[in-house]
Amino acid sequence: MHLVEHTGAAVTPLRTQPIPCYNVFTMKIRKAIIPVAGMGTRFLPAAKAQPKEMLAVVDKPVIQYIVEEAVASGIEEIIFVTAIGKRAIEDHFDRNFELEYRLEQKKKMEALKEIQKIGKLAKIAFVRQTKPLGDGHAILSALPFVEKHEPVAILFGDDIIDGKIPALKQLIDVYNAYESPVIALQKVPKKDVSNYGVIGGKKMKDGSWQIDRFVEKPSVAEAPSDLIVIGRYIITPEIMAMLPKVSAGKDGEIRLADAFAAYLASGKSLYGCQFDGTRYDCGSKLGFVKAQIELGLKHKDIGADLKKYLKTLT
Ligand code: G1P
Repeated sequence: MHLVEHTGAAVTPLRTQPIPCYNVFTMKIRKAIIPVAGMGTRFLPAAKAQPKEMLAVVDKPVIQYIVEEAVASGIEEIIFVTAIGKRAIEDHFDRNFELEYRLEQKKKMEALKEIQKIGKLAKIAFVRQTKPLGDGHAILSALPFVEKHEPVAILFGDDIIDGKIPALKQLIDVYNAYESPVIALQKVPKKDVSNYGVIGGKKMKDGSWQIDRFVEKPSVAEAPSDLIVIGRYIITPEIMAMLPKVSAGKDGEIRLADAFAAYLASGKSLYGCQFDGTRYDCGSKLGFVKAQIELGLKHKDIGADLKKYLKTLT
């Protein structure tokens, strides 16, 4: 296992002091696990020699948008689960003293500020997933850096969610209200549900969902609703404890989706947050291009010119 913490100071272990209160639901969500070990086969050849998470949307890599969402939601420590070929992600969130020095010399102070900001976003650790055995296995690889009684946020590396309130913050609010694990949900046309986890459940007065079914990638006919699961979750130690027991799939993978299904089958409460915000699936070509256009239109440097340019297209 490989652990690095980029604080700009001496490397210290991420593990915190023993936590005096063991009621998991009174614990603030401070840590996030971001699995980024996937090969990005949906995004070849762009992801052949660089992590797909490092592809830029306008001027920032996709992974930075995701880390910024986590930090804006109150996350202080991030554990990336990486694999071979993902070193660029480590470098991106590290300080780059030579670059900072050169920007300073050239009086490029705005760029300098942007670059320095990245190294200070959060305490960051990297752990390797030694075998490609699924998202559940990736999460288990990060467990040595999570307290036994600690709930954590999970953010998948593909989706950028743009909105006034960070999507993860909205999930954390639901977690705090119901004291149960939470899944991010989005309504899609029914014909599109089969690439996702799909839930069934009851809408609560506050707009969140009490989930009673979780079906991974169902056929349109079998889907319990048109509410799909997006890669943002709050999971509790109970879910984590289920992960090693659900090494189910024919391919030997451990999947978070199976742990949720097992958790529901054991009669426990699970909630869904239909977040406000626009989601861009940057693991797909179309989603990635949509993100470029829409976030480009909002960008202070190029927004107005891009708008003019798009109007010239027939
Ligand atoms: C995973 C989950 C699925 C979820 C999706 C969101 O699937 O298993 O439930 O809907 O992420 O992106 P994957 O995209 O890894 O096949």
